[in-house]
Amino acid sequence: MIIGVIGSGGREHAICSKILESKKVTQIYCFPGNAGTNLIAKNVNIKADEFDKIREFVINYKINFLIVGPEKPLVDGIVDYFKKHKIKIFGPDKLASQLEGSKIFTKKLCKKFNIPTAKFGIFKSIKESKVYLKNSKFPIVIKADGLAAGKGVYICKKIETANEAVEEIFNGKFGVAHNVLIEEFLDGEEMSYFIVTDGKAIKKFQTAQDHKRALEGDKGKNTGGMGAYSPSAIINEVLDKKIMNKIIIPTLRGLKKMGAIYKGFLYAGLMIIDNEPYLIEYNVRMGDPECQTILPRLKTDIVEIFSSCCENKLKKVMIKWHEEKSLCIVLCSKGYPENFKNSLEINNLRKIKLEDNELIFHAGTINKNNIIYSNGGRVLNFVVLSKNFKISRIKAIKLIEKLDWQNGFYRKDIGFKVIK
Ligand code: AMP
Ligand code: GLY
Repeated sequence: MIIGVIGSGGREHAICSKILESKKVTQIYCFPGNAGTNLIAKNVNIKADEFDKIREFVINYKINFLIVGPEKPLVDGIVDYFKKHKIKIFGPDKLASQLEGSKIFTKKLCKKFNIPTAKFGIFKSIKESKVYLKNSKFPIVIKADGLAAGKGVYICKKIETANEAVEEIFNGKFGVAHNVLIEEFLDGEEMSYFIVTDGKAIKKFQTAQDHKRALEGDKGKNTGGMGAYSPSAIINEVLDKKIMNKIIIPTLRGLKKMGAIYKGFLYAGLMIIDNEPYLIEYNVRMGDPECQTILPRLKTDIVEIFSSCCENKLKKVMIKWHEEKSLCIVLCSKGYPENFKNSLEINNLRKIKLEDNELIFHAGTINKNNIIYSNGGRVLNFVVLSKNFKISRIKAIKLIEKLDWQNGFYRKDIGFKVIK
């Protein structure tokens, strides 16, 4: 089997590594990939938004099916495009991808199908928003509607900062804004919950917890994710059932009624309050770095999962997991998520010897003439599986220290809520 993976981050390197474990696969192509995927797949110099060029390549190189890593091509309709051309692809269609593409779409769906979420209002202007804010309780949460790479959410303790947030959004910080979403602040414990579906069967795909803030103690700016651990410490059988019955199943049923086809991973960002789940947001893909954290725990052949989804046969697949706890630390370029330098050489990488259950995934890296350079804010992911999170974290930090990359920084406290 020949498989194409679309994307270029740590998530896609982790997906390629897992695919490589399958005996069913003879070749992987990555569009466009990074220095890590190039070690195990063949990087193709075509970007994720160049649908026509990818299609030409898929036909010429006889690729059996495509896996889409990031949200942007999904929201742009890559799945509809390839379906129209009768090429198999793993991911939700354009309409279903609105779950991530528009926070207001998701809120309306929650309302229609009675899915628990924070109380909210949708406002069409700065003036209207400010009138509402005047009579609101704080903290309050202000959100830009569309894709904003994790940056379109403001948690405001005071009316002044809330007013500023509304102004920034309507003044186009995240693109043209016709609406803003203002919602109640939910005070609880966060959890990321993943499932995989072929459009009929739904299978759980583990839980995780990421750390979105740049600095230790969950302080500083929001980022794409500085680290994660899996499983989440707060999941239990009762909660699991509630999440499936009150959130996941009604969502997928609702989408079906709207005529959308959901095939692929679905990532629910949840707030848990007194063992009750509330939906904060949906992502229509695996998380990054949650994917790098979760996939090493997967026992089942991932290609069996992907291909059975493409053929609507997921029901027959039993997904099994390793018991070990997994923890991932993201090594970033100094200055991320704001100004950071690119194209900085990473020289010690090849010298690091990995033990069993230790992995390094590349995120923002590029190989030029056999030298690896940084190529983005989040550069490398260090993942360790062990019997507890504490050991995983100690080992991951040791690996980062061995690399000794002077241009990098990372959080030493990933998993602090579950490590004493
Ligand atoms: P999102 O991009 O929607 O996941 O939001 C980013 C982060 O903001 C989440 O991971 C939460 O930590 C926080 N957040 C979003 N919505 C709420 C809410 N209604 N109440 C409390 N925290 C929230
Ligand atoms: N780690 C958060 C995300 O992938 O959206």
